[in-house]
Amino acid sequence: MKRKVVPKSTSVSRSIDLPTTNETSESLKKMENSNRYLHAVIDSLEDELLVVNKDYHIVQANDAVLRNRGKHRQEVIGSYCYEVSHNLVRRCNLPLHECPIRVVWETGRSAQATHIHVFHAEGKRQERYINIIASPVTDDRGNVIAVTELMRDVTDRKEAEDQLESSREQLRSLSAHLESVREEERKKIAHDLHDETSQLIASLTALLEAAVSKLPTSASQSRVLLNEAQELSIQILDQIHKLIYQLRPTIIDDFGLAAAIRWLVESNLEVAGFKVNLKVIGQEIRLTPELETALFRVTQEAISNIVRHAHAKRVNIRLYFRKRVIKLRVKDDGCGFDVNEAITSKDRPRGLGLLGMKERVELINGTMNIRSRPGGGTEIDIDIPFNCEATIE
Ligand SMILES: Nc1ncnc2c1ncn2[C@@H]1O[C@H](COP(=O)(O)OP(=O)(O)OP(=O)(O)O)[C@@H](O)[C@H]1O
Ligand SMILES: [Mg+2]
Repeated sequence: MKRKVVPKSTSVSRSIDLPTTNETSESLKKMENSNRYLHAVIDSLEDELLVVNKDYHIVQANDAVLRNRGKHRQEVIGSYCYEVSHNLVRRCNLPLHECPIRVVWETGRSAQATHIHVFHAEGKRQERYINIIASPVTDDRGNVIAVTELMRDVTDRKEAEDQLESSREQLRSLSAHLESVREEERKKIAHDLHDETSQLIASLTALLEAAVSKLPTSASQSRVLLNEAQELSIQILDQIHKLIYQLRPTIIDDFGLAAAIRWLVESNLEVAGFKVNLKVIGQEIRLTPELETALFRVTQEAISNIVRHAHAKRVNIRLYFRKRVIKLRVKDDGCGFDVNEAITSKDRPRGLGLLGMKERVELINGTMNIRSRPGGGTEIDIDIPFNCEATIE
């Protein structure tokens, strides 16, 4: 049975007993007026407002509460707040709902929570998300004498946030899918270049060589031209091999991430004259191709940015193999840049490299932190946690 307590007079109760004699004082009239004014303000609120005492009884409720809950004031005043808000017979508790009123009584400070309240409108049951701000009402000496609960329906906002999160989730999976499609495509192009184009050019080189050998000694001009053509076809072959390697560095599959990063350093930084200090710390563990490729591509972009933008002299690269995490640090002593500006710049297609790095790292549940300032060099820290399922014997 519903327990109903009519609260004793408190500084927040709704009605004030006025003297019935003609001696009604000026000050009481003023009080009545200010009290009416206060209630008019409270009742004008779209948000629901409750005042709750130490026993969790409602001592005051504004019109919005009565309107939204379809109740009369007498039903609400004196009821427990959790009866009116949740139809519960017990106080709100975790894990279902943290009670912000309890927090206010315990700490003396305001508290916020979002609860699900059930409403019945036009015969339909509706669950709504209600944001609650509970605040202490204090007396002259600062003692908490009651708690106000300001309740706002945030269902629309919550649904919009949920939708946004689900679109983000979809974007993340789309991104992951696109990344794997890109890697597959690179692999396929590398295979085709290797198995078809480079075989044809190798045959062309051999044919040119045969043609040169068949020339009569008198055809010196043709010999020179054919030799040049042969030289060119060898250069094309070399370039195709480089391209194949850039597209799909088989060194990762064959020798692992550390060797692949060493190759990136030699073929991109050292040949360009950078002083590089590369250290691999810990025992290298082989990870799934997905993780290794992602880390490789991210390092590739960081190195390409140093070559293209940093004007650096020294580059420090550290690859840590820890128990459950791989850490990559790439540091240069170059010109630095404004990271926020570079990432949020609307000036596209200026650069997608940093965004791509961030996305790749997030796709494998890692974190990336870039510290840089104009004139102060750049440091990129990447942490990739992994579990034993991500390792390969
Ligand atoms: N190590 C670095 N040192 C100095 N500036 C850098 C460094 N890395 C990035 N930047 C700056 O940040 C900008 C954005 O880099 P981002 O990699 O996103 O694009 P990008 O290299 O210009 O183009 P791309 O899409 O080809 O990578 C660069 O244009 C450059 O100004
Ligand atoms: Mg770049």
